[in-house]
Amino acid sequence: MSILSVEHLRKSFDGEMVLQDVSFTLEQGECLTILGNSGSGKSTCLRCLNQLALPDSGAIYFEGKNTLEKGYDVNYLRSKVNMVFQSFNLFANMDVLKNCTLAQRKVLHRGAVEAEAVARRELAKVGLQEKAHAFPASLSGGQKQRVAIARSLCMDPSILLFDEPTSALDPAMVAEVLRVMEGLRKEGVTMVLVTHQIEFARRISSKILFLHQGKVNLFGTPKEVFASPTPEFASFLALEGK
Ligand SMILES: Nc1ncnc2c1ncn2[C@@H]1O[C@H](COP(=O)(O)OP(=O)(O)OP(=O)(O)O)[C@@H](O)[C@H]1O
Ligand SMILES: [Mg+2]
Repeated sequence: MSILSVEHLRKSFDGEMVLQDVSFTLEQGECLTILGNSGSGKSTCLRCLNQLALPDSGAIYFEGKNTLEKGYDVNYLRSKVNMVFQSFNLFANMDVLKNCTLAQRKVLHRGAVEAEAVARRELAKVGLQEKAHAFPASLSGGQKQRVAIARSLCMDPSILLFDEPTSALDPAMVAEVLRVMEGLRKEGVTMVLVTHQIEFARRISSKILFLHQGKVNLFGTPKEVFASPTPEFASFLALEGK
């Protein structure tokens, strides 16, 4: 059974269709990258996966259950299908450790000792164990994004969602975040990624989904999609300078 199965997803904003009949599946341990021009619906698609955006119709099966059915526990979904935001969304008034323990306490109801142990373990994984008591304002962009990744990992997510995790960073900070993501990939963390880092996507992804005007234009392994690009994918690559 696929860990995530998206079927005939549609989403509009104010009568304008943004996603049309989007379908794809994700297997455990995969890294799926969504590519597409600005406005093609990448973020909307990603946000639909954990209902930060609510689709108009279609089905999203996670662990075999349709998450769009009435009564499905959206908080559970968001803890398991966990978003790492472009702008980090750290709490400025809390230190790194508190940022990493808060949702564990509130959503997973872990005790303080366990939550802190988990947080320290995940901070070590992203190379920031010594920053446990730093406040976000004192961190670089790359460090903030690594804290945000550690915070997500603390929730024992089944799937991590990344929406342009490096696009708010100075060029010098990009590599450290990509390195952490490559480490996660090696560990077998399942992820869905939106990025404009095409070479990185090509290297890290097991599947690439190319959205064009809200529709799936190409879906396959990096090898497949780069070997037989559609005209739309070819012009996207040309625009991105690849
Ligand atoms: N909350 C919203 N309200 C109204 N329209 C929206 C909303 N979010 C997205 N849209 C519209 O939906 C379309 C797709 O937006 P989306 O953010 O998914 O694109 P994207 O592929 O992520 O683009 P980018 O590469 O610029 O981030 C755009 O036309 C956008 O204006
Ligand atoms: Mg976007």
